[in-house]
This record gives sequence, structure tokens and C-alpha cells, in this order.
Amino acid sequence: MSDTPGGFGLYVHWPFCAAKCPYCDFNSHVRRAVDQLRWRDALVRALETEAGRTGGRRLDSIFFGGGTPSLMPPETVAAVIETAGRLWRPAPDIEITLEANPTSVEAGRFRAYAGAGVNRVSMGVQALNDPDLRALGRMHSVAEARTAFDIARGVFDRVSFDLIYARMGQTPEAWRAELRAALAMAVDHLSLYQLTIESGTRFADLYDLGKLRIPEDDAAAAMYDVTQDECDRAGMPAYEVSNHARPGAESRHNLVYWRYGDYVGIGPGAHGRLTLAGGRIATETLLAPEPWLDAAGANGTGIVRETPLSGEEQASEYLMMALRLTEGADIARHAALGGEPLPGDRIAELAEEGFLVHAGSRLRATAKGRIVLNALLARLLT
Ligand SMILES: C[S@@+](CC[C@H](N)C(=O)[O-])C[C@H]1O[C@@H](n2cnc3c(N)ncnc32)[C@H](O)[C@@H]1O
Ligand code: SF4
Repeated sequence: MSDTPGGFGLYVHWPFCAAKCPYCDFNSHVRRAVDQLRWRDALVRALETEAGRTGGRRLDSIFFGGGTPSLMPPETVAAVIETAGRLWRPAPDIEITLEANPTSVEAGRFRAYAGAGVNRVSMGVQALNDPDLRALGRMHSVAEARTAFDIARGVFDRVSFDLIYARMGQTPEAWRAELRAALAMAVDHLSLYQLTIESGTRFADLYDLGKLRIPEDDAAAAMYDVTQDECDRAGMPAYEVSNHARPGAESRHNLVYWRYGDYVGIGPGAHGRLTLAGGRIATETLLAPEPWLDAAGANGTGIVRETPLSGEEQASEYLMMALRLTEGADIARHAALGGEPLPGDRIAELAEEGFLVHAGSRLRATAKGRIVLNALLARLLT
């Protein structure tokens, strides 16, 4: 049992990639050279500083996200895991995930990551056909992704992969066939994201110029339905908007976020949520890699902002996170955090329309509700 409501996790952001994908607005950067020793020291130092206020707690999960953490030297991954294990109390079944790009170079490091303590890999496969991988600007082929995936399966107990659907020119039928192939390949967890045109990306520029077309809303919604249908049938139902797992194989780290647990965020652009003696705070670090590195050297964390969260803010955040999960939100916890009573008439209306289910103290969004979650929350919270 975790000693923090919702669990306690550590997020480590590695901001570097071999190339920038044209759809991606994550905090990821291409650099010719990275001063690996300085980065390792800065990450370790950030952990030590953060542990000053949360040290000794039971640690349920560590997640190396990016960027491309599979470009990290295994020694850096080992140093972070070893330091975290010294500063907090790792749960006996701690989940340690590393996001990996599925190229042969990265697969060559899998054993060393496992040796460092990583026990779960999440791979960015993105598509199961080569022309679409090229259109997404990816550096791997399907064959290479499959080989990397097989290597990962041989090394780690738990392996997940990501696909992006509702891609340029994709039809619901084509997605169904691809998803079936993915489900045949999957172990026990899949992340299936609908392509989003994020502002500031190359795809956004092309889209604005009319040079990139994505499926219309109706077709995208049909692909979401196909996703629920195929994954349900394969025994890997959604447990969150975009995440599917065999029961029991859900990502514990993701659950920490969505169950509104506490997490320390280190590395550039990392966010954290911490419950301290004085209340709950949101933390945010410097976004750009080199300024973060300089600041982490100076103040030990690179944190630029710490915001106290009022009870009302915590309650809204909790609802926004928890309704992403199929298990939904606990109305009693919403109230205990400081939320105003939720409007019974709106809940009844949304339930009548098939977006929500209200049973006892639990409020759950249906599959139809989860796809329009922001609109649903707007009706619930205003
Ligand atoms: C931090 S990224 C990936 C990690 C790794 N660098 C990779 O690309 O394989 C996490 C996931 O977000 C998804 N993603 C990123 N940008 C997206 C977008 N614009 N629309 C949909 N999914 C996106 C991709 O599936 C990606 O694997
Ligand atoms: S999708 Fe992954 S590899 Fe591509 S730029 Fe984003 S973080 Fe880097």
C-alpha cells in the first residue's frame, strides 16, 4: 500500500532526440553533443534537493520520459535509480519505466537499462506501415520496430508501445486492420493516441497552408470507436482515454497522475505535485535544456515556479485527472480536497445524454464522454 493517497512517483525528463518529429510538441531538442557527465550530476543533485522535502516516502514508480530517454547513457539511468533508491523507500514492486524509440541502436542498450533497474519499456512504434512512418518523420521501419520490440520482450517483464491513429489519409477500416496487427503483437499494454496538430510544429505549418490533411471529425470519431471495440474484444480495454491494458497491467506511473497522487518532476520542463506540511504545491522547472542545466547546478533543481494550490484548485485538478480513468472519480475525495458540491442537475443531464455514469460516490465518464472530456468538464465545473 502506498503511503501517499494516489501513490508517489518520480518523473525524470530527458530532453534530447536524434531528430525532431514534425508532429511533436514535447520538450525535445536535437543537440550535436551532450555533456553527459554534467547532466548526470545535475539530475542526481536535483534528486537530492527534492528529497529534502519528500525523502523517506515510499516510492511507487520512476518514469524516464522525453524526449528520447533511450538515448541516455545507461550509467546515467543507473545513477538516477540508485540515488532515488537511497533517498526514498522503493516499493517492493516498484515500476521503473523508460520511454524508448524502436531503433536497433537503442535496442542495443536494453540489457544495460535492465541491469540498471528498469523493468518496463514504453516504445514509440507510432505506425505499422512504412509509408506512414516516413510521413510521420520517424527514423525507424516497421521491421526495425518489430525487432526492437522482440528484443525488449526478451529483456523486460513489461513492454508497452504507442501508436498514433487518425493519421493523414487513414480510414477506419485501415486503422482496424492495423490495430488488429498491433493487438496480436502487444503484451499487456498499449497507448493509442489520436493525431493532434499541435501549434508550433511543422505539421501545424503544413496544415495551415492546406498541405496536410487529417481525417474529418466523423472519421476520427469512428476510429476512436474502432479502438474501443477492438481493444475490448482483445481483452485490453481502455483504462484511460488513450491507454489500454489487460486488467492489472495498467501503468502504475500513469495511475499516480490520474489518481492525483504526488510526484517529483526533475529535468527540464518537468512538472511536479507535492503534498507538504503547508499544503499541496505545483512545481515547474525551466523548460530549455541548457538553462535548466545551469540552474540545476546553481539551486539544485532548476525549479522556476512553485504554486500553492487552493482546495478548490486541487478538487478541479483531481476531477480533470480522475475522469480520464474508466474507474472515474470519487465524489467524496473531490469534496474532501475542497471542491464545491458538483451540480446534481448537470450530472443527471450528462448521464441522460450518455456521457457520465453516477453510481454511489463514483462518477465515471463513458467511452462517449471520455472522447469529449474537456467539453464535459466545462459543463460540470462552470
Ligand atoms: C514523449 S513522446 C515519445 C517518446 C519517444 N521519443 C518516441 O517518440 O517514441 C510520447 C508519445 O506521444 C505521442 N505523441 C506525440 N506527439 C503527438 C501528437 N501530436 N499527436 C498524437 N500523439 C502524439 C507519440 O505516440 C509518442 O510516442
Ligand atoms: S515524438 Fe519522440 S522522438 Fe519524436 S520529437 Fe517527440 S519526443 Fe522526440
